[in-house]
Amino acid sequence: MFHVQKMSVEDFTFAVRLTNTMNWNLVEEDFQFMKDLEPKGCFIIRDESERIGVATIISFGKVGWLGNVIVREEFRRRGAGSLLVKHALEYLTKQDVETIGLYAYQNKIQFYQRLGFEYDSNFVVLTGKPESSSEQVHQREATKNDEREIIDLDHLCFGASRRKLLAPILDESSNVCYVSGEKGSIRGFVVAKAYLGMAEVGPLVCQRGCPDIAVDLLKAVLNRVGGLEVITCVPEKESTICSTLMRRGFNEAFRVARMFYGAPRPNDCIYMAESLERG
Ligand SMILES: CC(C)(COP(=O)(O)OP(=O)(O)OC[C@H]1O[C@@H](n2cnc3c(N)ncnc32)[C@H](O)[C@@H]1OP(=O)(O)O)[C@@H](O)C(=O)NCCC(=O)NCCS
Repeated sequence: MFHVQKMSVEDFTFAVRLTNTMNWNLVEEDFQFMKDLEPKGCFIIRDESERIGVATIISFGKVGWLGNVIVREEFRRRGAGSLLVKHALEYLTKQDVETIGLYAYQNKIQFYQRLGFEYDSNFVVLTGKPESSSEQVHQREATKNDEREIIDLDHLCFGASRRKLLAPILDESSNVCYVSGEKGSIRGFVVAKAYLGMAEVGPLVCQRGCPDIAVDLLKAVLNRVGGLEVITCVPEKESTICSTLMRRGFNEAFRVARMFYGAPRPNDCIYMAESLERG
């Protein structure tokens, strides 16, 4: 008999071991970070007392995000994954979340469709180890004074305020953020989170119609993370960003489908994901 519970600190080792089977590169601190952001939003599913799977969610007002959905291989195709997802949906809808997003592997699209999610668009996960370049870029590093405007611009693009996620990311001294424009007229920003000798570039948010700014922001941040293994998640339709990354030696690792349960939020902008598990 399967049942879903709130994940506790004692479950982190299991969660890391299980997600490592998919090479998701998570460590216990990642689950602690998710728990700090959404104290009741990390779930564990058991078969009787045995731990068999995990999932995490985060809510941003009317928008929520589902990630890290995984069940131990020997327990799959018996309904545990569906129960985990339904539990997460119920938790979020009880909090008045109206739209729930996720990034699905291509071979899991049907699984999520059966649970009420609809396909939105494809994203490409690109990885690489860029060299720093001497090319001149015109973007500046963000300061604490830019934080509010960055969060407001992100809100316009994402469809909900991600303050609770972005504020700690921007405050972390090992992360870097570049903005385009002066205070009061910021047109785009990009963040790189550095951890364990790697870096994840995202979110990148930029007003639609400004691909040159988006590319310039990307170049600025790549110069800063030069020499590290970098991962990014880019909309397939943003061919200028994809080709910029390819020219810097990035390769496609895999593709995911962005899917929504409930109406998609408007986002007329250039957008690279913050992460697969948080949108
Ligand atoms: C995705 C995942 C979590 C699903 O977990 P699961 O426990 O197998 O999920 P379920 O058993 O509820 O459903 C899986 C399939 O088994 C079927 N199924 C469910 N109960 C069944 C049963 N008793 N007998 C036969 N089939 C059954 C479901 O209809 C479903 O089919 P579908 O994929 O064609 O829709 C699991 O495959 C997994 O951990 N994969 C690796 C990690 C991963 O890819 N995560 C998703 C990231 S996007």
